[in-house]
Amino acid sequence: MPNVLITGGAGFIGSNFVRHLIHHTDASMVVLDALTYAGNRKTLSELPGNRMEFVEGDICDEPLVDRLVSATDVVVHFAAESHNDNSLKNPWPFVQTNVIGTYTLLEAVRRHGKRLHHISTDEVYGDLELDDPERFVEERAYNPSSPYSSTKAASDMLVRAWVRSFGVQATLSNCSNNYGPYQHIEKFIPRQITNVLSGLRPKLYGTGENVRDWIHVDDHNSAVWAIIERGRMGETYLIGADGERNNKQVLEEILTLLERPSDEYELVLDRPGHDLRYAIDSSKLRKELGWEPTFADFSAGLQDTINWYRDHRDWWEAGKQATEAKYAAQGQ
Ligand code: NAD
Ligand code: DAU
Repeated sequence: MPNVLITGGAGFIGSNFVRHLIHHTDASMVVLDALTYAGNRKTLSELPGNRMEFVEGDICDEPLVDRLVSATDVVVHFAAESHNDNSLKNPWPFVQTNVIGTYTLLEAVRRHGKRLHHISTDEVYGDLELDDPERFVEERAYNPSSPYSSTKAASDMLVRAWVRSFGVQATLSNCSNNYGPYQHIEKFIPRQITNVLSGLRPKLYGTGENVRDWIHVDDHNSAVWAIIERGRMGETYLIGADGERNNKQVLEEILTLLERPSDEYELVLDRPGHDLRYAIDSSKLRKELGWEPTFADFSAGLQDTINWYRDHRDWWEAGKQATEAKYAAQGQ
């Protein structure tokens, strides 16, 4: 029975990962999370206490990280500042958590000889033209655009350097856009769903032509566990589920599923430096580890997600006004 230290386990993907391990493994877990604006203790409150211990703390806190890492078998590192728009307003927390935090963890796993899996993003590769036949592959050169993606790229580089220079036992994964339950309502899909549920018009940046490669969070997490169990040490795996759609298509689908007219939204100010398109080639993961996504039908996954936000108003409603006020102040 492995003991797994999960950083950022009170956030969107990390908390779904905790649920994944509860349902599919007999691992015991320690969650380390600073409960920033993006972390929510409520997200983990109904989970069995005998499987998971929660520690409120910062991944930059070296003595705390050292103590927790020394007592674990494997560290799965989700904690990050994760929202591009926030990184454009104030990049500092992104440098601190994503770079210094990852460095702090790396030094601890190096000292104690522990296994690390580092969670990262496809955004490290920059963006693609809409008609580019290529998709991102593991060997592609990094070319990040935003403060968020550049700090994630820096964290990946640190992990790769610690593998090569110090023989740290680590794997990395870079995933495309996730959707599903417990995602913060600042993000595209939950923002639009909760706008409609609150009687507000959805907001599309620019012209809505930007393409994202959507994957259900449970498929991301099953891939992460496959890499932890069977991935080759030092390797990077791209995670994606062939889910390319432009933002306008996704928004129209949300409106249709919510039985609203598909043009009932507003075009708002575009994001500065907005990446045009991401697309993942996940052949390496599929061929080497036999992983396949299970949410093949995007509409069905979206409907489940809509149902979840409809049924869990208590989880998001209190923060809705503040999130929208923040966007309104920047014309979005
Ligand atoms: P999130 O913002 O929902 O959650 C991040 C969590 O990290 C929060 O619980 C927060 O409290 C915690 N945290 C932040 N700073 C911390 C610190 N200094 N110490 C301890 N905890 C801290 O993010 P998410 O969407 O769940 O993303 C998780 C990881 O997955 C990130 O590394 C992100 O870069 C990566 N990723 C996300 C996506 C996506 O679509 N959301 C896609 C690919 C990769
Ligand atoms: O690709 C993986 C990345 O996906 C992760 O690394 C990030 O942590 C995660 O936040 C996500 O980044 P994006 O910037 O792509 O996600 P976001 O939900 O912010 O926006 C998705 C798209 O929708 C993007 O093209 C911007 C657009 N958008 C977003 C919001 C919030 C809108 O059109 N309207 C909106 O209100």
